Amino acid sequence: MRATLHVIAVATIIVARICAAQMFAPDIPKAWADKDVTGFEVPLTHPDRSPRYMTEKEYYAVKVRPIYRSYPVYAEGSEPTGYLDWLKQKEPEVVFDSSKLKTKEDWIRAGKIVFEAENSFFPATDPPGGRKVPPERRKWIGKDGAIRGFAPGTVYIIRQKGVLELGSNSCAGCHTRLLPDGTLIEGAQGDEGAGIRQPLPSGFPEERVRQALNNAWVLFGIPWIQTREEFEKAYLDLKPAEGNLMSTFSRQGTSMTHPPHIPSLIGIQNRKYLDATGLVRHRSIADLMRYAIINEGLDTSAHFGEFQPATEQTRTAFNQEVGTRFSDEQLYALGLYVYSLQPPVNSNPVSDVARAGEKVFQQQGCGGCHTPPYFTNNKLTPAIGFQVSDELRRTEDILDVSVRTDPMLTLRTRRGTGFYKVPSLQGVWFRSAFGHTGQADTLEEWFDPARLKADYVPRGYHRGPGPILGHEFGLKLSQVDRRALIAFLKTL
Ligand code: HEC
Ligand code: HEC
Repeated sequence: MRATLHVIAVATIIVARICAAQMFAPDIPKAWADKDVTGFEVPLTHPDRSPRYMTEKEYYAVKVRPIYRSYPVYAEGSEPTGYLDWLKQKEPEVVFDSSKLKTKEDWIRAGKIVFEAENSFFPATDPPGGRKVPPERRKWIGKDGAIRGFAPGTVYIIRQKGVLELGSNSCAGCHTRLLPDGTLIEGAQGDEGAGIRQPLPSGFPEERVRQALNNAWVLFGIPWIQTREEFEKAYLDLKPAEGNLMSTFSRQGTSMTHPPHIPSLIGIQNRKYLDATGLVRHRSIADLMRYAIINEGLDTSAHFGEFQPATEQTRTAFNQEVGTRFSDEQLYALGLYVYSLQPPVNSNPVSDVARAGEKVFQQQGCGGCHTPPYFTNNKLTPAIGFQVSDELRRTEDILDVSVRTDPMLTLRTRRGTGFYKVPSLQGVWFRSAFGHTGQADTLEEWFDPARLKADYVPRGYHRGPGPILGHEFGLKLSQVDRRALIAFLKTL
């Protein structure tokens, strides 16, 4: 009898599970509804310059970009014979089709396709035989000789029969990391390359200099803080970026001189604010969908007061006839996929040293800001020199203590809120580029008191010598305690 009941119970559970899997009814928000677009961002330091985006009507008039099947690019010597000719015979094949998605797992798998999909395209010019891969990129070649990872231009895309294209700008391109043991982690802090402005080469033709200055103004111009003349002079006087530049990226709206580091997206569902400056409120999957929309280039066509960086003449993902957008279904799948990401297995041992480090963590009061279980209290902290208004105190989750790191990224950019968010310490063992602008290459460097010296040369991103300012927590520890603290952090 008991056995029968057990069987019935198990059967009921199985049936319930199958039904739950089958009955997944996606509740897809309208990502760009006017009523929600106002209010998904924290105001900028100059609130009257907070972006006014295109309207719902304008947005939904932009064509949706179908996602086509892509094919690997092989390293020289590994390309199957006749590969490119074979590809040219292929019909374009749309690989994201929401009408075919039934279970939640289907949606998540489809989200991975969106995550990996390139969204800007250029002609492929490789001759047959496979691509020459420079020595520093050889680690990205898989066992089958195909180039792994998602750096720009590493897959062929067929949107039209007979025409091979390469692409760039997929989420995976910046958010995929290769661990030393060869594991590829999607959603982690990317380490495939850096998008950092370097000084213009000397003897560059005048016309190219003009183009570069115009382009930089679209990406980084902040006319209410710096005139165009000052901006151009700063670009022409730019010092070279040095150090390990991987995992830092001067994305649009940030800064030529103070770029953000690329964050890991694993565990993002537990973060209340997105971006180092806490620009985007993360209240639901719809906010993440909006985040993806603005960062694919919509923000460059917004109005910041009367200033509109990208006008009709400037190519972005959204304007001109090439303008395309994600569908809400694609964005929803993308969000589910990002939320489903799991960290890789952590091989750092919870040793006695790490346990001692946990005590140091507690004694030093780190947990007040990096609060377990997520190792962030999810609050915003003001940068040096930023006065928190009563209005912000009402609307945001603020810890009114400045950790006194460099204020440029948050005070002098189009994404500047005046705040830096308290980052999560989960997964620091598979990250580099610490601090919002990635100046400290390792945790050891972040906790090295020498980094405060005026003539210090950072090992992460920097332009010339200078201290890594602020966040002095843990800098006065003994060698033993510091090592223990770091051992503990690497277990998170
Ligand atoms: C060209 C590189 C690049 C691409 C492509 C890219 N990202 Fe990012 N991503 C970044 C950088 C840099 C930041 C940090 C920005 C900042 O802090 O201001 C970031 C931040 C984020 C964040 C905020 C995380 C946090 O903890 O604050 C999310 C979420 C995110 N990206 C998702 C995506 C998604 C989804 C896509 C594809 C639609 C995408 N990214 C494409 C470079 C990129
Ligand atoms: C008052 C709040 C506060 C306290 C206390 C605090 N932190 Fe932080 N922590 C921050 C903020 C804010 C940042 C981001 C600063 C920036 O990038 O400008 C940060 C950044 C970090 C980073 C770099 C993370 C990354 O992704 O770049 C590490 C590591 C870190 N903290 C560890 C610690 C440890 C360990 C302690 C204790 C010894 C500690 N923090 C104490 C607020 C705090």
